[in-house]
Amino acid sequence: MVYKSLLFTCFVASLFRNGNSFSSTKPLIKSWKIQSNGVLFSSIDNVEQPKQLSSVASSKQKKKNLKTFSRYLEIESWKRGPAARDLEPVLRSVGEACRQINRIVQRAQTDDLYGVAVDADGNPLEDTNIQGEVQQKLDVVCNAIMLKQFCGCSKGVIAAVASEEEDEPRGCDEVMGDNAFAIGEYVAVFDPIDGSKNIDASLPVGTIFGIYKCTPGTKPDEKTFLQQGNEMVAAGYCLYSATTVLVLTMGSGVDGFTLDPDKSVFLHTHPDIRIPSEGNICSFNEANYRDFKVPVQRYLNAAKEGATGKKCSARYVGALVADVHNVLINGGIYGYPGTYQNPQGKLRLLYESNPMGMIIEQAGGAASTGTGRILDVQPTEIHMRVPTFLGSIDNVYELDQFHQYYDDE
Ligand code: F6P
Ligand code: MN
Repeated sequence: MVYKSLLFTCFVASLFRNGNSFSSTKPLIKSWKIQSNGVLFSSIDNVEQPKQLSSVASSKQKKKNLKTFSRYLEIESWKRGPAARDLEPVLRSVGEACRQINRIVQRAQTDDLYGVAVDADGNPLEDTNIQGEVQQKLDVVCNAIMLKQFCGCSKGVIAAVASEEEDEPRGCDEVMGDNAFAIGEYVAVFDPIDGSKNIDASLPVGTIFGIYKCTPGTKPDEKTFLQQGNEMVAAGYCLYSATTVLVLTMGSGVDGFTLDPDKSVFLHTHPDIRIPSEGNICSFNEANYRDFKVPVQRYLNAAKEGATGKKCSARYVGALVADVHNVLINGGIYGYPGTYQNPQGKLRLLYESNPMGMIIEQAGGAASTGTGRILDVQPTEIHMRVPTFLGSIDNVYELDQFHQYYDDE
């Protein structure tokens, strides 16, 4: 006991000796800027950083030989051929965007980055989001990071981008202020900060993206983005939670990478993710139960009784990325159904349901609207919504069966 408290005292003393003082009086950082090269800069870069904790954790406890995300991309490009080679700089940039957004999310409270976005006079920016939601400060900053990282990754790769935060798609020439970025072989869609309201309470949030081919040599327009999800060449998400995880598919299989907080690099911790074929997680906003359509109500009743397999257990964080990641790892079903008032539900096909659907399918699960495959839905406008059910194949199959059986009620 005496030995243990002596050790602890030495440990605390060593932290202070190393300058890792928790009582720092350094000013809080208020300003973040994105440089023209897309790198995020804040004046915190001039502030002494705390010593890393790697000396505390024994290196013996660390997993050995985890490939870096960069190395993984090099190998996959070599294995998969020209299309994957084209995408290598884009996906590298996505990794960088996730690193930067993670840094902002971690500092949202200390740097006063949470809350509603304001104009130069400090007035809240209202009705600025196409979804009719008041934009959060984080939405604005993270949207700018995604725009720059996608468009600026390499000339001639991404030609245009569509963001959940913006009314219209944007050409990369406009984003980068340089005509050389006008033409490329791909377009990208993204939701920069999914579940951003979670930030205020230090709960998980995410970033979602999908990449499509476009006609090389021509400038993309809104129609270029109205492709079915099954045309996507890559999709993924970053989850900023207890750990920061980047999950990616390039069209065959799914891989996951965890951000090493000391080295600030993503490491290949989840090779070839497979979703369990069934699971007991039910991830729905059950407060809306009375508004759900009859097939969904009946399915949930049955799932709670264990009539469709294992008796279900409710989990709902309120950020799509976090809830779906839980289902991907542990098995079960995530749902944002349509209601009688909003038959298309809430989730956006392009920025949310399609990329998450592709990941789930590529991991061996299913992505359904209740009446068909999400990835086969023909988009009619870029911000359209779609009822969304994602998860283990057995669970989603049961949900579909309830739709077929009770559809006429
Ligand atoms: O982007 C929409 C979103 O924030 C999702 O991340 C999340 O799953 C959902 O809304 C939560 O909506 P609700 O608060 O209605 O359950
Ligand atoms: Mn979202």
